[in-house]
Amino acid sequence: MSHLAGRLGALTPSLTLAIVERTKALRAEGVEIWGLSAGEPDFDTPTPIREAAKAALDRGETRYGPVAGQPQLRRLIARKLECENNLSYSPDEILVTNGGKQALYNLMMAVIDPGDEVLIPAPYWLSYPEMVRLAGGVPVMLPTDEATGFKVSAAQLEAAVTPRTRLLVINSPSNPTGMVYRRDELEALAAVAVRHDLLVVSDEIYEKLVYDGAEHVSIGSLNPEIFKRTITCNGFSKAYAMTGWRLGYLAGPREIIAAAAAVQSHSTSNVAAYSQAGAVVALEHPEVPAAVARMVAVFAERRLRLFEALTAIPGVRCACAEGAFYLFPDISASGLDSTDFCEQLLAEEHVACVPGIAFGSDRHIRLSYAADLATIERGAAGLARFMASRLRVGAAARPY
Ligand SMILES: Cc1ncc(COP(=O)(O)O)c(C=O)c1O
Repeated sequence: MSHLAGRLGALTPSLTLAIVERTKALRAEGVEIWGLSAGEPDFDTPTPIREAAKAALDRGETRYGPVAGQPQLRRLIARKLECENNLSYSPDEILVTNGGKQALYNLMMAVIDPGDEVLIPAPYWLSYPEMVRLAGGVPVMLPTDEATGFKVSAAQLEAAVTPRTRLLVINSPSNPTGMVYRRDELEALAAVAVRHDLLVVSDEIYEKLVYDGAEHVSIGSLNPEIFKRTITCNGFSKAYAMTGWRLGYLAGPREIIAAAAAVQSHSTSNVAAYSQAGAVVALEHPEVPAAVARMVAVFAERRLRLFEALTAIPGVRCACAEGAFYLFPDISASGLDSTDFCEQLLAEEHVACVPGIAFGSDRHIRLSYAADLATIERGAAGLARFMASRLRVGAAARPY
């Protein structure tokens, strides 16, 4: 007899765990792995931010705080959203959460009723559908591919809306594809959302990581109608190399933010006080923007290196994404599904990457360039050898 709750039956176990375990085991055996699977920046958190957290501890900021976050931090987040994103929120329309992940989880718990449909463009960040299911909702995928730049069109969105549709998820720049929506594309999607009275959650956690002059646009900033129904989600993990600090936030209509805060009040309470002290400095210290710009410049160089290496590999098709720190090549010419591809690539060439099936596409793999140039070059070389060997096997198997 199972002692587990019924709702866990709907949860997909992590599809990437086996590869992570195998990578760890190989490393433990002393094997050098070319790791292109990281979902986090490989930089240190900028110094002023780290200093601020240490000082907060020394000042005795070690106790419970307000559930929704320190007032000063909520004020600074409101200012940031106003200045950088053209979004006008007051501090009580902002909830500070334990990472972007908790922001999204709280939101799903706050707005989804059993049976509500949530539209998720695919490929998607793997936690969206699971959070929807945990909240009792039904994830409805909107498939995209290279032909449309991994973007959902207004017509596609329109066709997917039913009377049960509650929420649309927008993630730009995207994990895993790196796609960035243009303003006009978001305007078209926003018009559909407004017409059908949908809520929109805009996950903007990669907003600062855009390249080639791409512009990040917040969908909530487009007009007052879409603003009213948008919940903006963001955080400090990716832009400031602060994944371990667990700092995210949600901004949106007061009623929804209060409900999400109520969920948080009964689960985790406030984010650690010293982490919030770091976030304050991330938003107001004069040296931090330059530190972020340096990280972005390094990502930009690595992105081009990885893209050039991938496009030179026969059998690999890759779009040059404009954001985040991922590329998402199509490896289906290998004749392997994405899990077999990644497992065999790891075993034979010691290159670690993530099977696309985890994000809803079995034709692709996700490569992260949150890795140094040597790793990128060695990893891409291993991938090239591996692909060549699989293409040879495929050619030999073909009748002529
Ligand atoms: C698209 C997306 N949203 C949200 C998150 C959550 O980030 P965190 O909880 O570390 O702030 C991630 C992390 O990988 C992500 O890729």
